[in-house]
Amino acid sequence: MSDPHQAAHVAEQAETRWVWVVGIVVATLLFMMAYMSLHWITMPPQRMETINPGTLHLAGEFVEANLGSATEADGSVTVRLVGNQYSFTPQCVLVPENTPIVIRATSADVVHGFSVTNTNINVNLIPGYVSTFHARFKETGEHTMPCHEFCGVGHAAMWAHVKVVDKETYARLAQQKRRLSCAERS
Ligand code: CUA
Repeated sequence: MSDPHQAAHVAEQAETRWVWVVGIVVATLLFMMAYMSLHWITMPPQRMETINPGTLHLAGEFVEANLGSATEADGSVTVRLVGNQYSFTPQCVLVPENTPIVIRATSADVVHGFSVTNTNINVNLIPGYVSTFHARFKETGEHTMPCHEFCGVGHAAMWAHVKVVDKETYARLAQQKRRLSCAERS
């Protein structure tokens, strides 16, 4: 038969251990909060780029001829796209695998959602603002790109594709055209 005093002692030890575990978890969370607050406070305020949604199609970065994927001097790829009721332009985004991608997007009318399935790409397209997202696709393949923000009666039909191709294919296509997209599924 075990001594009741000894049992109480064992229980107390276990409780003390758990108090320490919980204490460490709470302390870690508090440290993270304090660290992130201080870290963010030392950085410039959130970058905010504005753009006139009424003249997107007339001049500037988001004219139709400038939409799609463009290869930059450093080898990265910039994808520019516009969301409007009820489609994205381009309807299919072509990108190379394993390459730093910068997505720059905006809306021509109302708030749209921009997300790419099986990735962490998820941002809102807000008229008047440029949304930027950095991404990298590790594997070739196709993703769907649905609008995830209710934007009107055609919302459910508003979606597009992302097609990830290998670097060689992309490079070959990029030689033929400065702005790439895959307007039709192949
Ligand atoms: Cu665009 Cu929902």
